[in-house]
Amino acid sequence: MKNIVILISGRGSNMEAVVRALDAEGWPARIAAVISNKPEAKGLEFARARGIPTAVVANKEYATRAEFDAALQETIDRFEPDLVVLAGFMRILTAPFVEHYAGRMLNIHPSLLPLYPGLGTHQQAIDAGDREHGATVHFVTAELDHGPIVAQARVPVLPGDTEDTLSARLLVEEHKLYPYAVRLFVEDRLEIDNGDVRILAPAEPTSI
Ligand code: GAR
Repeated sequence: MKNIVILISGRGSNMEAVVRALDAEGWPARIAAVISNKPEAKGLEFARARGIPTAVVANKEYATRAEFDAALQETIDRFEPDLVVLAGFMRILTAPFVEHYAGRMLNIHPSLLPLYPGLGTHQQAIDAGDREHGATVHFVTAELDHGPIVAQARVPVLPGDTEDTLSARLLVEEHKLYPYAVRLFVEDRLEIDNGDVRILAPAEPTSI
């Protein structure tokens, strides 16, 4: 049984998608906690209503990034995570924090990485005249929105798209992509090899 700690900053719809998939599909995992850097994050309400332990480590209360990350790490580690899932966690993380969770921290980013790291990804795709946009789940490394890619989902960019219409179309796919990727981790099917992710075949069911 793997312990998953999910970090959010806001709405938490990707967190919700992971929680629902875990429950519906009976993964060998439990959500040990949902932690936010914002006390007002909407997603905390969903987690509390499901009886999932929640915690807030408010970045506003810390003078430096290093102090905040240290406090966050201490809170996360109380829940003994096998996996940390960043689900709309809008913080730049320090290298020691990232290093501490090397190979066991995933992020979802709303672009087809390596395109458009950072913010404003939907508008950037529209402005560039891209015909396709997407989302990426990747292992977190010290460089922002980089790291070995687990999986990507793609949507078309349609004529007349705005940031709102495009992000809404993509979010539907994010809600399938993230549970898919987290499940692969839970089932020990992800291997990082020289910066690339290999997806292993499912374990054969044992027969008698
Ligand atoms: C999602 O679209 C996620 O891909 C994006 O924030 C949104 C969070 O929504 N993440 C990033 O931009 C990270 N750089 P949610 O809170 O409803 O899951």
